Amino acid sequence: MLRIQRTLEERYTTASTDDLRQMVADAKTALGERLLILGHHYQHDDVMAFADARGDSFGLSRIAADRRDAEFIVFCGVHFMAESADVLTGPHQRVVLPDLNAGCSMADMADIEAVEDAWEALASVTDIDRVLPITYMNSAANLKAFVGRHGGAVCTSSNARAVLTWALLDQVDGRTRADKVLFFPDQHLGRNTGFDLGFTEAQMSLYNPRFELGGLDAAAVDDSALLLWKGHCSVHQRFRPEHVADFRVRNPDGLVLVHPECAHDVVVLGDVVGSTDAIIKAVEAAPSGTALGIATEVHLVNRLANEHPDKTIECLDPLVCPCATMARIDLPHLAWVLESLVDGRVPNQITVDADTASWAKVALERMLQIS
Ligand code: 13P
Ligand code: SF4
Repeated sequence: MLRIQRTLEERYTTASTDDLRQMVADAKTALGERLLILGHHYQHDDVMAFADARGDSFGLSRIAADRRDAEFIVFCGVHFMAESADVLTGPHQRVVLPDLNAGCSMADMADIEAVEDAWEALASVTDIDRVLPITYMNSAANLKAFVGRHGGAVCTSSNARAVLTWALLDQVDGRTRADKVLFFPDQHLGRNTGFDLGFTEAQMSLYNPRFELGGLDAAAVDDSALLLWKGHCSVHQRFRPEHVADFRVRNPDGLVLVHPECAHDVVVLGDVVGSTDAIIKAVEAAPSGTALGIATEVHLVNRLANEHPDKTIECLDPLVCPCATMARIDLPHLAWVLESLVDGRVPNQITVDADTASWAKVALERMLQIS
């Protein structure tokens, strides 16, 4: 999705790192309690140093929902996270994304028109009232709203298991809430969670929105408990089983920590599989001297390596691919938005229209209730 970020003034682009840090610190002091800066774990250290709260996408959505007193929430993360914060916060609160180009390529893989077409196609071959849409947090607000309207919920990498259990396994009045889930946009999180819950490969089908009925036939739809939208994260899809094998040869007693956006053949090789928060906790819990190979975004891996010098921590992808969109948030953009707020302007405000927001909130609040 194209979003236009204005070019920053020279004052920001030519300033030294020390000057930028001073600008951010001064603006933070001037804004005081009116300001809350949230930092996702994949942010640069330079930016994270100024975050009032750090978290995974689930934790940050909870914090955004709880901090009713903050007038400005500067979200150092990506667009879908800022949208979720806008949905969950009050009308007196304004959410700001320091760089509008900080999107998420995975979220962009499930656009609402394609989703609506898929829903219509499925309704022609199956009882659509027995299908629940579930979307990963990494999706646009209009997709979350679609899910809310159709009785489904949002999930994150830390609660996908609980949300799919709620949808497909819990009994309500003697039957499950749904026979099938249409899961957006990350096929890997959906498949990994499906296997974790005991579903077989034959019960999970890939729904490719480029083809009619997702490239499936009515019988395949009928046999599937999980219809997995064909989306992925290009950062996490890079991790391969041979990276794990190479790490294990060099570190026979080491621990492998894997984010569930990785492909299933990597996830099965992990000692711990979990969200960014779960990965951080596993590193903290490992005894001193442990070697840890981590399959997630490199800014987080490098930060963990610096914070735990008593452990040997490496990114499992030798080419250490960063998330290019997360990395758009940098000190010049942070200094610019904060100084603008001090001057009484609100740049890059992320707003979700009222109807979309009310339905997206239904889907987000269902998630918060389930987990
Ligand atoms: P977490 O939910 O683990 O923070 O992951 C968000 C994300 O974008 C991972 O790519
Ligand atoms: Fe999106 Fe992947 Fe970046 Fe996460 S790491 S924000 S899923 S592109």
